[in-house]
Amino acid sequence: MDTPINVFSEWAQNGKDEGMEKHHRDSVMNMLDFACSGLSEYSLIDAGCGNGWVIRHTSNDDKCSRAIGVDGSSNMITKAKRLDNKNQYYCEDLLNWIPSKKVDIVHSMEVFYYFEDPALLINHITKNWIKKEGRLIMGIDFYYENKASHSWPQECCISIMKLHSEKEWKGFFEKAGLKNVKSWRNGQDKEWGGTLIVTGTN
Ligand SMILES: C[S@@+](CC[C@H](N)C(=O)[O-])C[C@H]1O[C@@H](n2cnc3c(N)ncnc32)[C@H](O)[C@@H]1O
Repeated sequence: MDTPINVFSEWAQNGKDEGMEKHHRDSVMNMLDFACSGLSEYSLIDAGCGNGWVIRHTSNDDKCSRAIGVDGSSNMITKAKRLDNKNQYYCEDLLNWIPSKKVDIVHSMEVFYYFEDPALLINHITKNWIKKEGRLIMGIDFYYENKASHSWPQECCISIMKLHSEKEWKGFFEKAGLKNVKSWRNGQDKEWGGTLIVTGTN
């Protein structure tokens, strides 16, 4: 078993990060469509951005004024900066970092369950990263109702992976003070529960 940061640093070196772009793309597009629709302009942070593919995609949208990626893995951030010298990337633990300016949207795909206390992280992001009326949107494939994902901690040898139900995740958003909290699943198929998407506004 190793820490999430160490495991994903290795993934950045052996090219497995590119598989994440392929597998997460459909759910990320669903999340971005929802979060950005109706906005004439927005700034966005991708929390746990990996190699920065969501930032590179988003910053091509004319309506996106600022796109920032944050990840705790230095290998991921080095790769993101190598692929993109236009946008900002920071190598930081999400729990310690605070942006210099709050943003309209905080997006995060397959990251929040790598924290001992996800409620603490959601609270920190809500208070310190998101503008009033701004939005937090999160997608995860590892959650209680998606039984097919339960074996991942052993298979991936990652030390911290916290299993919570959809109701618990929504509760974390509500406790942080987010409003209009809603959730849905994207990409359900037979035994696969799909990506659990949870969102709310500040
Ligand atoms: C499954 S990957 C997802 C990457 C990206 N969101 C994507 O969809 O391609 C999880 C990412 O979370 C990052 N991460 C895990 N724990 C973190 C922490 N405490 N602070 C910052 N980043 C963290 C890892 O380094 C990794 O890049």
